[in-house]
Amino acid sequence: MTGPNLDLTEEQRMIRDTARDFAQNEIVPVAAHFDETGEFPRETIRKMGALGLMGIEVPEEYGGAALDTLAYVLAMEEIAKADVSHSTIMSVNNSLYCHGILKFGTAEQKKKYVTPIASGQKIGAYSLTEPMSGSDAGTMKSRAVREGDCYVINGRKSWVTSGPVADYLILFAMTQPELKHKGVTAFIIETDQPGFIRGKTEPKLGIRASATCEIVYDNYRCPVENRLGQEGEGFKIAMTVLDAGRIGIASQALGVAEAAFEAAVKYAKEREAFGQAIGQFQGIQWMLADMKTRIEAARWLIWNAALSKERSKHTGERYTEAASMAKLFASETAMWVTEKAVQIHGGMGYSKELPLERYFRDAKITEIYEGTSEIQRLVIARGVLGMK
Ligand code: CAA
Repeated sequence: MTGPNLDLTEEQRMIRDTARDFAQNEIVPVAAHFDETGEFPRETIRKMGALGLMGIEVPEEYGGAALDTLAYVLAMEEIAKADVSHSTIMSVNNSLYCHGILKFGTAEQKKKYVTPIASGQKIGAYSLTEPMSGSDAGTMKSRAVREGDCYVINGRKSWVTSGPVADYLILFAMTQPELKHKGVTAFIIETDQPGFIRGKTEPKLGIRASATCEIVYDNYRCPVENRLGQEGEGFKIAMTVLDAGRIGIASQALGVAEAAFEAAVKYAKEREAFGQAIGQFQGIQWMLADMKTRIEAARWLIWNAALSKERSKHTGERYTEAASMAKLFASETAMWVTEKAVQIHGGMGYSKELPLERYFRDAKITEIYEGTSEIQRLVIARGVLGMK
């Protein structure tokens, strides 16, 4: 790793090194097994929690490591470099779930619902998407109707990352559908209550150890004290939280790109063809040069977004475009670099004997979830044109 010439703090270096050691020693050896079986890696996730990786920016009083966003992206890159599935679970816990409750929750909600997730004892999730409402998130149909001191929730949510195993999740549902996005409200859901019904786990191309499912709400009763923010604030909460989430996804894209690149450099030095190492051929050299350049550019954008998010803690300014640019560029870099790394490895890149084909499959999701590349371009263009 090189990266922008910033002096990292002692804490930032420590969490990065902790994440790197854990990832290389404990995740790399099991990553292929979890990819093959699609099992949820509960034990490694629990250990990551004990190391402080599940609530990196969460204050100590709520069980977190109390570090900053740069620390978060450094750690995320290291975990993703070993396995994107593990980093996906980490990303949802940290930035979609904990960040959402820390930013918009009451002190009681933070104590009860952040502490067990930040410490890795329990799993959190975030549930916005529906079968017919994805990029157009404001068109959701799930309904929450106030009845006394409860909201009765009915609806169907899809593509819930960590849904099959989550203990708690943040759910978005319509309290006033006639107001469209201004009628969306957020709720903290306990998944062991009646009316919470999990659908089948999705079989996926990549990130196969990150469990994903549909969830049906059938007269689920959510106490009023579990409403997150005010009625009608849900869409802004969803978007604000996704801004943070997109920086995490960019970092996991960077991690997998880096893993593929390092493997490609090693192979280019070792593998011989036509009497010399293939790295001696200009065709391979130019691929490696472009891979390295894109990786470093992605890292700059990610660090810029992380620093923008840090600044926003004091200024309150949005960092929406910085996050979208980081996610857009890093995820397209991940796809491009992993594809080139497979190509450089030839037949071995296509074989399950090496992790290259897994990197390639895992990289694809970063261009899709938490806002597709097309949505990131839309967000950036609206910013450029002053259409916010
Ligand atoms: N921060 C704060 N507020 C925001 C915001 C942001 N980043 N983006 C928009 N808003 C506000 C706007 O200011 C506007 O407020 P007012 O009503 O007060 O004017 C309101 O939200 C509506 O904004 P838009 O008119 O821009 O809304 P839109 O309907 O055109 O949608 C969008 C904008 C960017 C397309 C948005 O819908 C979007 O990001 N879509 C993609 C959704 C997405 O990423 N889904 C992935 C879900 S999570 C997942 O992948 C699975 C998982 O488990 C990890």
